Amino acid sequence: MERAYADDIITTHRDTDGTVLSCTTLPSCVATMLERLDVRPGHRVLEIGAGTGINAALLAHLAGPDGHVTTIDVLPDAADRARRHLVGAGYANVEVICGDGADGHLPGAPYDRIIVTAGAWDIPPAWTQQAAPDARMVIPLRIAGFTHEVTLHRGQQPGGPLWTSSHSRLSGFIKMRGDGHHGERDVPIVAGGQSELRVEADLTLDQAALVRATSGPPARRWTGVRTADLRLPGLEFWLARPGGLCRLINRRPGHGLAPATGQGGSLAVLHPTGDTFAYLTLGPAQDGDTKRELGVYAYGAHSDLLADQVAAQIQEWGAEQAPAATSIEIHPAEAPTPSLDEALLTVAKDHTQIVVRTSR
Ligand SMILES: C[S@@+](CC[C@H](N)C(=O)[O-])C[C@H]1O[C@@H](n2cnc3c(N)ncnc32)[C@H](O)[C@@H]1O
Repeated sequence: MERAYADDIITTHRDTDGTVLSCTTLPSCVATMLERLDVRPGHRVLEIGAGTGINAALLAHLAGPDGHVTTIDVLPDAADRARRHLVGAGYANVEVICGDGADGHLPGAPYDRIIVTAGAWDIPPAWTQQAAPDARMVIPLRIAGFTHEVTLHRGQQPGGPLWTSSHSRLSGFIKMRGDGHHGERDVPIVAGGQSELRVEADLTLDQAALVRATSGPPARRWTGVRTADLRLPGLEFWLARPGGLCRLINRRPGHGLAPATGQGGSLAVLHPTGDTFAYLTLGPAQDGDTKRELGVYAYGAHSDLLADQVAAQIQEWGAEQAPAATSIEIHPAEAPTPSLDEALLTVAKDHTQIVVRTSR
């Protein structure tokens, strides 16, 4: 009971190589997601990722006896256990389905609310087709290499976005498996393997050229942008403009690269040619000043160009009044792509096109 109510995750299933297949969601994260989802009595709710069933139980409380919850898990053992737990605890208004959540579950549609508790790379057509006209959806959605937990409202205008966000924040989730799966890979970029770039699996790069590049000196730029908030809210959207956004991970000391910005690694950008990358670094802490200057180090054949482009994006981000106040729109894949003057960022997915706008 102590573990169940602690603000920590509980892992229930691992693959033979140790990869986590299923776990609970962090309770504080569950609370925020449920607040954003705003389930009302009588609602029909679809959850993707049944896991232990605890979130489905909370959803069932919120939907009440006149509502209904359908929860899906791709892992047969997780679905079986969730079903047993929910029946054992007396929940009559929850149905547990074993299958690929990307297909939704047509017999339970239309859904007033959809909550996804695994990281999605795209929004499959079934979720939009099975959503009620004024539906809301909370989903951890990968946009340019980073997962954002977004609250989406169904679009009301013909020809307009399918979904528009009211909130978003960075988050981490187990990736969805099945048809919607898109992996990542860690590519060593320093001879000796102490540093890696974590990139989307389909990003093309020239690893040998990157390793050669890091043996030479970087192009360095200091941006004049000083910040005390090292979470750097929203900056990843600006940095995804000049190239493929990724993360630099320094695994062991002695990597020879400058100190990165965060413990989980540093935001990095891969030039479209795949042979040049840049990453963020921090200026030294000054006595009594909590602000640190953001800098850029770049390696590779186009290092000067990329360092200038990345520094310019950081300066644009720094000039925004509230850089985190971005809105995310989901359009059909075939919708016309807005120019980078109209939108901060556009990302093409298999089924949709994601458009990120600033509040400017
Ligand atoms: C973080 S856990 C969900 C936690 C769960 N909501 C709870 O209350 O315990 C993510 C779950 O998503 C499931 N999953 C991954 N890909 C899926 C897919 N394509 N369809 C349905 N479930 C999926 C995993 O098997 C895992 O159980």
